[in-house]
Amino acid sequence: MAGHGAAKPMVATAGAPLRGAAEIPGDKSVSHRSLILGALSLGETRITGLLEGEDVLDTGKAMRAFGATVERTSPGAWTVRGVGVGGFQEPEDVIDHGNAGTGVRLVMGAMATTDITATFTGDASLRRRPMGRIIDPLALFGAEARGRRGGRLPITLTGAANPLPVQYTTPMPSAQVKSAVLLAGLNAPGETVVIEREATRDHTERMLRGFGAEVSTEVTAEGHVITLRGQPELRPQTIAVPRDPSSAAFPVVAALLAEGSDVLVPGIGLNPTRAGLYDTLVEMGADITFENRREEGGEPVADLRVRFGPLTGIEVPPERAPSMIDEYPVLAALAATAEGTTTMRGIRELRVKESDRIDAMARGLEACGVTLEEGEDFLIVHGRGPGSVAGGATVRSHLDHRIAMAFLCLGLAAKAPITVDDGGPIATSFPSFLPLMRALGADIREAAPETAA
Ligand code: S3P
Repeated sequence: MAGHGAAKPMVATAGAPLRGAAEIPGDKSVSHRSLILGALSLGETRITGLLEGEDVLDTGKAMRAFGATVERTSPGAWTVRGVGVGGFQEPEDVIDHGNAGTGVRLVMGAMATTDITATFTGDASLRRRPMGRIIDPLALFGAEARGRRGGRLPITLTGAANPLPVQYTTPMPSAQVKSAVLLAGLNAPGETVVIEREATRDHTERMLRGFGAEVSTEVTAEGHVITLRGQPELRPQTIAVPRDPSSAAFPVVAALLAEGSDVLVPGIGLNPTRAGLYDTLVEMGADITFENRREEGGEPVADLRVRFGPLTGIEVPPERAPSMIDEYPVLAALAATAEGTTTMRGIRELRVKESDRIDAMARGLEACGVTLEEGEDFLIVHGRGPGSVAGGATVRSHLDHRIAMAFLCLGLAAKAPITVDDGGPIATSFPSFLPLMRALGADIREAAPETAA
């Protein structure tokens, strides 16, 4: 669980170019879903390449608490013996999801149509995040929740004894909300329908089909209409988790901003609902080639070869936001080293991530000498050109792994080192970040504790 140890300051200093290959760990979204769907099927699911980050490990613990048997057989290789749809037992204690919004929201969905009660909590970051977006649709199935004011954790949820199927239009683009409703719909009779105006990552739909559920997606004038037939028997699967494009973004961006770099990032998942950053980088003029395009575990995958080169700021199409929602922090860091202005609009959802990411990036970039404009749902970064960001600041990571990694990448191209006050949360999603970046030649290290700017 993140956020409970002493802060771990880290410092990044510009220096040698990055060279070599970066072996990125498994996709966080697919890892959470592998454990949850494994627990909801009858029999043994085998997973390889599971992300062993704190967020996913907390989901594994939750699945044990609900009665599944979850075992690690070797690094990245796990088995889950599930209890079947509707088979969750009541946990004996509070379920602590640490820093993981995906974990807690999907698990609340998965238990909301079983007649049991569970109490959920998380770290200081997760306890600040809105859960009403999950509780509201789960109430339509008949689940009852009591939490802190504003729909904050800790929340006690009692699943519906006689669930009703639901038709729900998501009020914001959110794969977590969509997925929570679909997982709840598994134990409701009849058809559960989720309508989303903008497509969000579709791992839940793809994986549910893989596990044997009937799920259809139709594109209509209203948006994407996803229909699930309830009460299927999910069949256990063998899952090879693809490598995480959101984690890959850090060494990719580091290679783009550290002069002279040339890095290979093999086997990255490029599901179109996740790959928006890569389209954006190409539009900025990045030297990236997508080699050996292929399919692995039902997901499109390629080896990325990335070389340093001049970049130009662009206006990122707002409709692309859902497909790169986790990549705006690192894009904002890169934009600071590009020529010209990068405009990011339609990014309101960043305000309710592990931190308020618009604010966290704006304050950190300002401390590093970058000029920007910011609003409720936009961030505009005025690029200073390669090697021209001052740096020399300590920025706050706000218990947010992606903020910490974004500033450590920027430090690799700043005039003076950039320190983040706490790199501890990096372990939630990318525990091998530090050794991986150092093996490429990046000068990133743990630093002596300091007071944040
Ligand atoms: C995720 C969905 C996204 C994303 C998160 C993972 C998922 O959140 O930010 O890191 O696995 O479904 P939202 O659904 O809140 O946009």
